[in-house]
Amino acid sequence: MWLSILAISLLSILFVTSRILKFVTGLKKVAYLPGLRCPLGSMSFPGTMLPTNLLNPGFDWPWKWRNRIYPSYGSQTISVVPFLSGVPVVYTCSPDVAKQILSNQHGFWKDPEATAPLTMWGNNLLTANHDVHKRHRKVVGPAFNGSTYAFVAQEASRLYAEMMESEGWYKQQVVNLEPINGYLSKFALGVVSRCGYGLPFPWNTDNREGMSFDRALMIVSGGTILRLIAPRWAYKLPIKRLHEVDEAFKSLAKFMRAFVIDKKAELTSKESEGSSPKVDVFTRLVAASEAEGKNGLDDQELIGNVFTFLFAGHETTAHVLQACLALLALHPEEQGVCYHNIMQVLGDSRNPTLDDFDALEKVLFCFQEAARMFPGASVAERDTDDTVSLTLPAEDGGRTIVLQPGVRIVVDLVGIHYNPRVFPDPERFYPARWQGIRETELPSFGWGPRACIGRKFALVEAVSFLALFLRDWQVEPILKEREDKVQWRERILQATLVGLAFGVRDVPLRLRRRGTRLALPLIAQLNLVNRACRD
Ligand code: HEM
Ligand SMILES: *[C@@H]1O[C@H](CO)[C@@H](O)[C@H](O)[C@H]1NC(C)=O
Repeated sequence: MWLSILAISLLSILFVTSRILKFVTGLKKVAYLPGLRCPLGSMSFPGTMLPTNLLNPGFDWPWKWRNRIYPSYGSQTISVVPFLSGVPVVYTCSPDVAKQILSNQHGFWKDPEATAPLTMWGNNLLTANHDVHKRHRKVVGPAFNGSTYAFVAQEASRLYAEMMESEGWYKQQVVNLEPINGYLSKFALGVVSRCGYGLPFPWNTDNREGMSFDRALMIVSGGTILRLIAPRWAYKLPIKRLHEVDEAFKSLAKFMRAFVIDKKAELTSKESEGSSPKVDVFTRLVAASEAEGKNGLDDQELIGNVFTFLFAGHETTAHVLQACLALLALHPEEQGVCYHNIMQVLGDSRNPTLDDFDALEKVLFCFQEAARMFPGASVAERDTDDTVSLTLPAEDGGRTIVLQPGVRIVVDLVGIHYNPRVFPDPERFYPARWQGIRETELPSFGWGPRACIGRKFALVEAVSFLALFLRDWQVEPILKEREDKVQWRERILQATLVGLAFGVRDVPLRLRRRGTRLALPLIAQLNLVNRACRD
């Protein structure tokens, strides 16, 4: 009896001491930066699974407390140090500090533990480090060029027309969408499938056999975390969701393997026939990789990149488009600005091409402003694998801090986007603030040697879609009884991790046709294309 009490007391003392040590070491690792102190790390597995509250900052604190935390510690760079579990984390909402982190490759890397959900299919551009990253970037980089973007504009127009026709909206004056999200996700997936991979992706995909590609993809994106944490034996239990996730992973894996093999075969046969090169990103990537010989990418890395483009390229763009239409619904005056811009550039029937991109700047500004307020990627993460020093900006005291290895660093893109020093009146939807800002400076796509490779792809896709959509439709929020727009905004425009990207949940929108013009020219073109395909 006494012995066990003694043993328990000793163990408790040991445990408490070890946690105190962990906490003290953590504080030292982050150079005693002020910030949140909590039981579970904000980036640790249990911490991110629990909701954000006073005891647990969790994953969502940068969004939920976006206007409060940094000012309350009087610094744009703060720390979150846990004492039970998780690594110490440094967060910054200072563009200056962010650029030091993102432009510097030495001492920073992406810890494979943090990128595990994205390496399940193979190492890839998004997850690779140091020299391996350079090898990926060298092969993947040139596959995104002007020809890609021209193709994106063309396919966005075609897909928009198919969407109008298949959904029957072009015959309607008013369309209620509760919510609009799925249509935009499908649209973004379609553009990536066609321009990224050269897949046909017809809008109507219902009549395909087995689990359809896009359905498998949706389930995988929502089920990746579950897949990572569920133990093998759990699949033997009668849990429907697990079996669905399992089936989706298997069919996607099968699809991607077959896809890589097909592309390689296609290339060899095309070369011998001497026909014109295909323009989709992936075909070019495989060609470039083959040309590199030993320095190219192996099959597993190719598959890893297929997967990453699908995710990085589809959910992010879709989420920003969803937020963009929601914000425009709240701001009819900005819709008016866009409409005027579109009519001046395209008139009432021409489809946008890459050449129209610069002229459609008012539309672009709306998308960029939506990406500021609801960034598809809300954080850019790094880990230190060496000691690194960061110089805080003058307004935060200007001192240089030294971080030790084993610190997670979060470039808090929500924090930067809502930092009033950078964007005055940050809660205001104000597209004109983007006037005169260069594309490479857009914070929502990151900075430096790892900045988003799909930036122009996403921008061209979004501008093409919005130009077509806003020319045909006015959008309005669907309000609940006795709800006003302010309440709608409060209810709907809340962001969190949706799938693997950051974004808003269901957005109920009403589309009202502008004038009585039907999208006939588009439909006519589409029919011609369809006929050409059939013949
Ligand atoms: C609105 C849409 C998008 C947003 C907000 C976005 C955001 C970002 C951000 C912030 C990064 C930098 C991450 C870091 O530094 O750790 C990034 C990287 C990346 N993005 Fe995007 N992205 C978008 C669209 C796309 C598209 C369409 C594609 C591909 C078709 C794509 C593919 C990638 C890849 C492969 C990387 C990794 C680059 C590297 O590490 O070298 N993204 N993206
Ligand atoms: C893009 O790259 C491909 C080769 O991968 C090349 O054939 C094409 O001409 C390039 N397009 C532009 C606009 O540079």
